[in-house]
Amino acid sequence: MTAKLLQTLPADLDRHRLPKHVAVIMDGNGRWAKQRGLPRALGHRQGVEALKDLLRCCIDWGIQSLTAYAFSTENWQRPSEEVNFLMFLFEHMLRLELKNLQADQIRINFIGDLEPLPVSLKAEIQHAIDVTANNQAVNFNVAVNYGGRGEIVRVCRQLAEMSQNGELHPDAIDEALFSQHLYQFGASDPDLLIRTSGEMRLSNFLLWQMAYAEIYFSEILWPDFDRHEFHLALSAFQSRDRRYGKVNQTPS
Ligand code: IPE
Ligand code: IPE
Ligand code: MG
Repeated sequence: MTAKLLQTLPADLDRHRLPKHVAVIMDGNGRWAKQRGLPRALGHRQGVEALKDLLRCCIDWGIQSLTAYAFSTENWQRPSEEVNFLMFLFEHMLRLELKNLQADQIRINFIGDLEPLPVSLKAEIQHAIDVTANNQAVNFNVAVNYGGRGEIVRVCRQLAEMSQNGELHPDAIDEALFSQHLYQFGASDPDLLIRTSGEMRLSNFLLWQMAYAEIYFSEILWPDFDRHEFHLALSAFQSRDRRYGKVNQTPS
């Protein structure tokens, strides 16, 4: 494993300073399809291929956790054919790829409100979570029907209920306790957020967890995001000075 890692990680990257957790806003599928005169659905299909390649890259380069934004709470407002196609695609890909996730020792997890999803998709999601629960190579989180504000409100409601039941004193609420009630993705907060397609916004993704993420915007449309582009994002990450509000001690 280590030998393979050394072989495949680009020489200019320092493997001791890779992000532990990468999050991606996979944007630009529709524009990718439009540029080719294709239906948006084909952009989404090609987007899945880019995600599979990125997951492969995370295994090869030793990145422990990947979280991908697949469907936001706002995406329900798209035309119903597109929403239905995306639901179909998630279910189809999960069924198709489960064997590969197992073979590659990938543990899949989902964040978001799964309740409103189609019953058959929910069943496939639960099955994939159960089957891959003990895998160790990469933690792969998929955000489906996810919204950062909704997530924060959900935590507030849980804590308020606990307080009302006498299980929690308001003084006991701190950042650590709050974090414990967020959707769990089996990893520390993202170190690096990548958004493709030139859009420079968070679109309600992981608002709490992004407090100190390094953000990298790429002009590339998601279906074209490949190893080379990921390499560029990691190089940018390694060039950043993560100060967390402190003053850098190294002489300038
Ligand atoms: C991102 O690509 C995928 C999802 C939101 C599901 P888009 O579908 O947003 O693609 P553009 O932004 O219209 O090009
Ligand atoms: C964000 O992309 C959501 C996902 C990638 C799943 P959108 O395309 O929905 O975001 P906006 O509308 O450009 O902000
Ligand atoms: Mg978009």
